[in-house]
Amino acid sequence: MHSGILVATGVTLVTGMALAGESRLAALSGGEFTVVDESQLAYSLPGPISGPQLELFANGRQEFQQRWVVLPSIGGKWGRGPTSNAEICADCHAGNGRGHAAETRKESLASMVVRLSIPGENEHGGPRPHPHYGDQLQNQGELGRVPPEGDASIAWNDREEKLADGSVVLLRVPQLLITNLAFGPLGPEIMTSVRIAPAVFGAGLLDAVAEEQVREIAEKQKALGFNGRPNYVWNTATQSTAIGRFGWKASQPTLMQQDAFAFLNDMGVTTHLFKQDNCPDIQVACRKRPRGMIPEQPERAFDELLFYTRALAVPARRHAEDPEVLRGEFLFAQAQCAACHVAEMKTGDYPALPALGGQAIHPYTDLLLHDMGEGLADGRPDFLAGPRDWRTPPLWGIGLSAKVNGNASLLHDGRARNLTEAIVWHDGEAAASRDAFVRMPKQEREALLAFLNSL
Ligand code: HEC
Ligand code: HEC
Repeated sequence: MHSGILVATGVTLVTGMALAGESRLAALSGGEFTVVDESQLAYSLPGPISGPQLELFANGRQEFQQRWVVLPSIGGKWGRGPTSNAEICADCHAGNGRGHAAETRKESLASMVVRLSIPGENEHGGPRPHPHYGDQLQNQGELGRVPPEGDASIAWNDREEKLADGSVVLLRVPQLLITNLAFGPLGPEIMTSVRIAPAVFGAGLLDAVAEEQVREIAEKQKALGFNGRPNYVWNTATQSTAIGRFGWKASQPTLMQQDAFAFLNDMGVTTHLFKQDNCPDIQVACRKRPRGMIPEQPERAFDELLFYTRALAVPARRHAEDPEVLRGEFLFAQAQCAACHVAEMKTGDYPALPALGGQAIHPYTDLLLHDMGEGLADGRPDFLAGPRDWRTPPLWGIGLSAKVNGNASLLHDGRARNLTEAIVWHDGEAAASRDAFVRMPKQEREALLAFLNSL
């Protein structure tokens, strides 16, 4: 047993966090899939798995850190591209954490992607891909053989917001720049969505939350005057509609599909779920590249990676019973942050890894879509998610984000550089919560931030 890992008996902590009673339970953000670690590895440890599962996890970690190269390069697994955004999952999700927004317009987007579509829907009600560029701008091709589709960067414009006590918060507003397009202009109808890589730990638990539970949360929320709605998206494996859970607009129904989608769209690697490379008709060089194995990622290796992403545990809270943190927790509830960032839910049965089932977890999300106002809108629908809708992101582990990733690029496009900026950007359905925060005296804001940092 790794020191610092919670043993499978529920609330027994292996390492010395002296917590008692209630607060001890509250600190267990991921139920039994909680680990006590505040180092850079905090997002990288498995929950209570043992025996052959540990080997699966280790192999899956290797897959997550695997470099993919294009035929016939050496130094990695063959099968990347012909177009892609990166060569390793961990390039974007370093330490299983979040990406880092590009700081200047001279930097190409690295741990971020740009989704594309045109008005209308595909055959399953999802976004309609651009005829020449597909549904994501791939900024890497194969040197001398396949051109990248284009390049993207972000210019930031500053904007000031005043809090009630007169202090000023400097916000930055992104402006997407797309250049060097290889297949002609995107056209006037183009819709874009800039997205930063979110953290991936705890995803197994969110995968295990029953659809019924998500609908119940939506019902309860209505009574509070909120309008959270589940996204309903296409499940490729079952060929049916399902509740969306993953991605900033909850457009992926399962962790399996999310992982396979990442392979295809982010790295150009085919899997048994998505067997076809991403080459629109006009991209002749892309279409002509010889294929290696089909799929490029064999099912066994994919399953190991999937197991890894399922088993990654959630870090335990720190200082959960500190008086300032408790005060912040009260303010978080009072400002109705907790209406969307729901503190507690239960996972359902999960045959793929039964230990993830029946857990009381504290993800601080409702997995629902909310209208977040014009300032955050991307203008691009994604299944039932409208142009201003975003899925409430889980807040568990957020206090360790700077430690693991050296930064806190928050919100869907990484525009917020700290928690305060992220809160001040809230609008739409969350406008009253934002206003409550803006009106708080400094001490209360600090208590609220101390609470968020304890997650
Ligand atoms: C080029 C950067 C990039 C690469 C490489 C990448 N991802 Fe991601 N990942 C993202 C972005 C951006 C999102 C959010 C997508 C969205 O909003 O639809 C995401 C979302 C996810 C999520 C969902 C998290 C959540 O809570 O919604 C998982 C899980 C994930 N990626 C796993 C992987 C795996 C596994 C790989 C390798 C096969 C991978 N990613 C490669 C950028 C990347
Ligand atoms: C109406 C639902 C709703 C309410 C109320 C709400 N949030 Fe959010 N929160 C969201 C959504 C949706 C996002 C993602 C928005 C985006 O990425 O553009 C978000 C994002 C965040 C983030 C950034 C998380 C990340 O990983 O990037 C933080 C921090 C946060 N909220 C804290 C709060 C706090 C504190 C309050 C109360 C003052 C609050 N929220 C109230 C829905 C809500």
